Amino acid sequence: MIKALIFINLIISLIYAGDNNEPIFLKYSNFTSFLMNQHGYNFLNYVDPFYGTERGGNRFPGVLYPFGMVKVGGDFRHATNHIKTDSYAGYQKHGFLRQISLLHVSGTGGSPTYGVVGQMPLLLESNTDLKSYDLGMGIERKKPDTSHLGYYKIQLSNSIDIEFTAAKKSSIIRYTVQEDYKNKHFVILVNTTECLNSFNRPWWSQKVVNSKIMINEDQKSYKGFIEVANGWASTDSFIVYYYAEFDKMFKNVHSYSNKQMEDENEFYNLAAFFDFGGNVTKLTTKIGVSYLSIEQAKINLENDFGKTFDFNGQVIKTINIWKNEVFDKVTELKVQDSIVLEKFYNSLYGSHLMPTDKSGVESPFYLTPNSNNILELTKSNFDNKFSLNMISDMISASGIRQVGFEPFCERVKIPNNTTAYYDDWFTLWDTYRTLHPLLFIVQPQKSKDMINSLALISEYEGFAPDGRSGGRSGRTQGGSNSDIVISEAFRKNIVTDLLERCRLYRASWRNANTLPPYFFDRSAKDSTNKFGRGALEDWVSLDYVSTDFSRSLTRTVEYSNNDFCLAIMSSEMGEDNIVTNEYLRRSRNWINLWDKNLELNGYNYKGFLCPKHGLQTRGKYKSIKNDVEPENIFKRKHKTGSFLKKYNPADCGGCYWGDHSYEGTSIEYMFSINHDITKLISILDGGAKEFEQRLDDLYNLNCDEDQARKSGLKYKFKSLSGKNCGFADVANEPSFGAGYLYNYIGNQDKTAATIDFLTTVEFGVGTRGIPGNSDSGAMESWLWFGLIGFYPVPGTDIYLIGTPQIERLNIRNKLLIKVYNLDPDKYSNNVRKNIFIEKVKLNDNIIQRNWLKHGELFDELHGSLNILEFFMTHEPLHWDAQYEPPPTFEELLHLE
Ligand SMILES: *[C@@H]1O[C@H](CO)[C@@H](O)[C@H](O)[C@H]1NC(C)=O
Ligand SMILES: *[C@@H]1O[C@H](CO)[C@@H](O)[C@H](O)[C@H]1NC(C)=O
Ligand SMILES: *[C@@H]1O[C@H](CO)[C@@H](O)[C@H](O)[C@H]1NC(C)=O
Ligand SMILES: *[C@@H]1O[C@H](CO)[C@@H](O)[C@H](O)[C@H]1NC(C)=O
Ligand SMILES: *[C@@H]1O[C@H](CO)[C@@H](O)[C@H](O)[C@H]1NC(C)=O
Repeated sequence: MIKALIFINLIISLIYAGDNNEPIFLKYSNFTSFLMNQHGYNFLNYVDPFYGTERGGNRFPGVLYPFGMVKVGGDFRHATNHIKTDSYAGYQKHGFLRQISLLHVSGTGGSPTYGVVGQMPLLLESNTDLKSYDLGMGIERKKPDTSHLGYYKIQLSNSIDIEFTAAKKSSIIRYTVQEDYKNKHFVILVNTTECLNSFNRPWWSQKVVNSKIMINEDQKSYKGFIEVANGWASTDSFIVYYYAEFDKMFKNVHSYSNKQMEDENEFYNLAAFFDFGGNVTKLTTKIGVSYLSIEQAKINLENDFGKTFDFNGQVIKTINIWKNEVFDKVTELKVQDSIVLEKFYNSLYGSHLMPTDKSGVESPFYLTPNSNNILELTKSNFDNKFSLNMISDMISASGIRQVGFEPFCERVKIPNNTTAYYDDWFTLWDTYRTLHPLLFIVQPQKSKDMINSLALISEYEGFAPDGRSGGRSGRTQGGSNSDIVISEAFRKNIVTDLLERCRLYRASWRNANTLPPYFFDRSAKDSTNKFGRGALEDWVSLDYVSTDFSRSLTRTVEYSNNDFCLAIMSSEMGEDNIVTNEYLRRSRNWINLWDKNLELNGYNYKGFLCPKHGLQTRGKYKSIKNDVEPENIFKRKHKTGSFLKKYNPADCGGCYWGDHSYEGTSIEYMFSINHDITKLISILDGGAKEFEQRLDDLYNLNCDEDQARKSGLKYKFKSLSGKNCGFADVANEPSFGAGYLYNYIGNQDKTAATIDFLTTVEFGVGTRGIPGNSDSGAMESWLWFGLIGFYPVPGTDIYLIGTPQIERLNIRNKLLIKVYNLDPDKYSNNVRKNIFIEKVKLNDNIIQRNWLKHGELFDELHGSLNILEFFMTHEPLHWDAQYEPPPTFEELLHLE
C-alpha cells in the first residue's frame, strides 16, 4: 500500500517536474536590448505578457495596439482526462496549437469568443494526401512560448518557429524552419472554419456558419470572409473580412472543403493548403482584417505595412505606440519595491486591452442612415408648449410609467470615417467600477470616444449595451450599467459638449424608461438579457424587482444604483427637480428588499437583503421565439411583497443567470449599494459598530473560520491567505468596493489594512498574479487603484482614500502623488512597514477627510498640476477620526 502511494506521488511529482511549458517573459531580446538603453522604455522590464494568464485570469497574452482591433495570438487546444478545455483567450499553457489568429478578447469566462482569421504552418511529406489530412488536436510545442510587449514566439515540435506582432488592423507573422528537411514541403494551412469552441457549454459555443477563401492569381495572396454565429454575446452572427499576402510565391495550392459544410456551400472553398515546396527556411506573411469588406481589409493591410514585410520594424513600432499612447502618460514614477512596480505596469497594460476600437469605417453604422431615429417620433408627439420637466403619469405604449420625457437632442449625422465606435464590452457590469474610472484618468480623450459610442449604439439599436461583441449586444447581468459610466463621465467632465451630453442622457433615459423587447435567452428565459432593463415592469410598478424575474436581488440593487446615476445626469442636464427627485426616490428602492429580521447562522447580527415575491403573473416566458407569451404559471400562493422563506444571505446557489443573485451573495450585494452607504449604516441595529463588524467578516484578514462554517457560505473565493472565511470575493466585481467602506465610518486605518492585505496577498505577479477572470482589465484596474492610493465611487466624482504604495507618481502632469515614509528602513519586496496614513496634504493644505474629488485632483481645463501628498506611519492613528464622511445620496448631487 505504502509503496504504491510513494510510487503514485513520484509519478505526480514527475508530471509536475515535466511541466516545462511555463512561458518565458523575454526581457532582453534584439528589440528590447536596443530600446532599453534609451530614455522612457523602462516599462519593457516589467510588462509581462503572460501576467494573469493562469489561475482563471484568462488574460490575453498575444500582441495588439492599445484597444487594438487585431489581437494576434495562438489558439491552443488542450484536454485533461480526454475532456477538452475551453481556451478563452486562445492561449493555453499546455496543449496543441491549431492556428495563429487575429481576433481575441481578454480575461473572459462563460464561452470563448473569436479565434478567427488564422494560419497554421506545417511540414508535410510531399506525398501527403491533403484530401484526408486533418490537424487532429493540433501541433505541440517544442519549447515554452516567449514574449515581450509587441513580440511573441511559439516554437513548434514540427521544427517551425512562429513569431508575430500586430499593427492597427493587421498582423505580420514570420515562420522559420529550424531543421533541414529533405523530402518535406513547407505548407501554410488556412482553415476558415476554425474558431474558439466552448467544449464545456456546446450550446453556447461559437459556430462558423459561412466562410470563403479565394486565392489570387499572383500566387502570393488570398482573401475571403468568415461569418460566426452564436457564442458568448448573442445567437446572431457577425462577419469579418480578410486579405493576406506572403513574401514568396507558393508553388501549389490545394483547396479543401469541410465535409459537413460541403452541401450548403458547394461553391466555396473553406480551407486551403498553400504549398511552398521544399528548401524554404523563412516565410513572412501579413494579414489584414475588416468588418466592412474584403477591399477594406486590403486597404487596412496597406495602411499598416505599405508594400513592405518589415517584421522587425513593426515590433519597434508597436512598442513605441504603447509608449506614446499609454506609458508616457506616466510622466514620473518612483517605486522602490520591484514587485509593486511589476504590478503597476502590468495593471496599466492590462487596462488597455478592451473595449476594442473599431471607429470609423469598421463601425457597423458607418455611412448607414439611422432608420431607428427615435428623435423624429418624440418630436412629433409633443407640442412645444408642453413642459418637459414634469413627471408623466402617461402610460406609454409599453405600459411603463415614464419619468419626464425623452430628452430632445439634435438629429445625429450619419457616422463617417472618424466617428468613434467601440466594441467588445465585456461587460460594463465588470468594467464600470474600475476600468472606466482608470481610463477617465489616463485616457480622457479615448474615454470620451468610448462613452459616446454607447450613445451611438443606443441611437441605432434602441439601447446602449451592457455586454457586446462582434457588433452584437447581449448578456446584461444586472442593471443597465452604461448609466453608471455615463454619469461618471458627466461628473468628471470627460464629456462636456452639450449635444453629446444630451445624446448620452437620452441613452440612459431609454434604459430607465423603456421596456426592452423580449429576446429569448436559454440561460434565463423570464426576461430579456440583451440590453436595457429586462425587469423594468416590476421596477416601476412595485419599486423593487420581484422573484418573478431571475436575478431579482442583483437587479434591485443595480437598478437602484442606475437610477441614482440618472438623478445625477438629470441634475447635470438642468431638468426640473421633480424629475431628479423621482430618480432619487427610486434609487433607494433597494431598501424594499431589506428584511430586518433575516438572520445569518452563527453571526450575532440580523438584517439582510432578501428576495421578495411579486405579482406572480409575469416572467417565465414559455416561447423560444421572440414573440412574448407570458404564461401565468405561478400558483398565487405567496403574498405580493412577502419575503422569500428560509433564504440564506450567504448562499446564492448557482449564482448565475437563473438565480436570485448573480455571481455574488446577498451579503456582497449589500455592500455594493455604492450611492447610499450612510443609509445602509443607519438601518443596521448596531449602526456604525455593527457595520464595522460586518466589514471585518468580509475578508480573510479578520474573519473567523469556525463562525463562517456555520453560515453555510458556499460561493466564495479561494484565498491565498490560508484562510477561507470571508464573505467577499475579491476576485469578482460585486465585492470590489467593499474593502474601502470603512471610510464611511471614519475608520480609514481599517481600509488601509484591508487593501494592503488584498493587494499584497491575493494579487501577485507573473502568470498567477490575478485571482480570477481579468474581465477585460476590471481586475487589473482594481489593483492599479489599490496601488495609487485612492478608489473611485461608481457613477460619481468621489474617490475613497486607500493605502498608496508608490513613492512618486505623476499622471499626465495633471496630478503628482508623493508618498513619504513608506518604509524608512530597508526595502524588502512586497512588504511595506508603513501602511497607515498619518496625514494627507492636497496642494500643501492638510485635509482631514478620507475622500477626494476628481476635480481637485485632475484639472483638465487648465494647465495646472495638483500635488497630493501622503505621509505614512506604522500604526493606526485614527487620522480621520474627526471625519467628514464621504458624501452619499443627495449630497452627491449638490457637490461643488
Ligand atoms: C537577434 O539577432 C541575432 C543576430 O543578428 C539573430 O541571430 C537572432 O535570430 C535575432 N533574434 C531575434 C528574436 O530576432
Ligand atoms: C478545419 O477546422 C475544422 C473546425 O475546427 C475542423 O473540423 C477541420 O478538421 C479542420 N481542417 C483541417 C484540415 O484540419
Ligand atoms: C532542395 O534543393 C536541392 C538543392 O538545390 C534540390 O536538389 C532539391 O530538389 C530541393 N528540394 C525540393 C523539395 O525542392
Ligand atoms: C465626420 O463627422 C463629424 C461629426 O460626426 C464631423 O465633425 C467631421 O467633420 C466629419 N468628417 C468628415 C471627414 O466628413
Ligand atoms: C476620411 O475621409 C476623408 C474624405 O473622404 C479623407 O480625407 C480622410 O483622410 C479620411 N480620414 C480617415 C481617418 O480615414
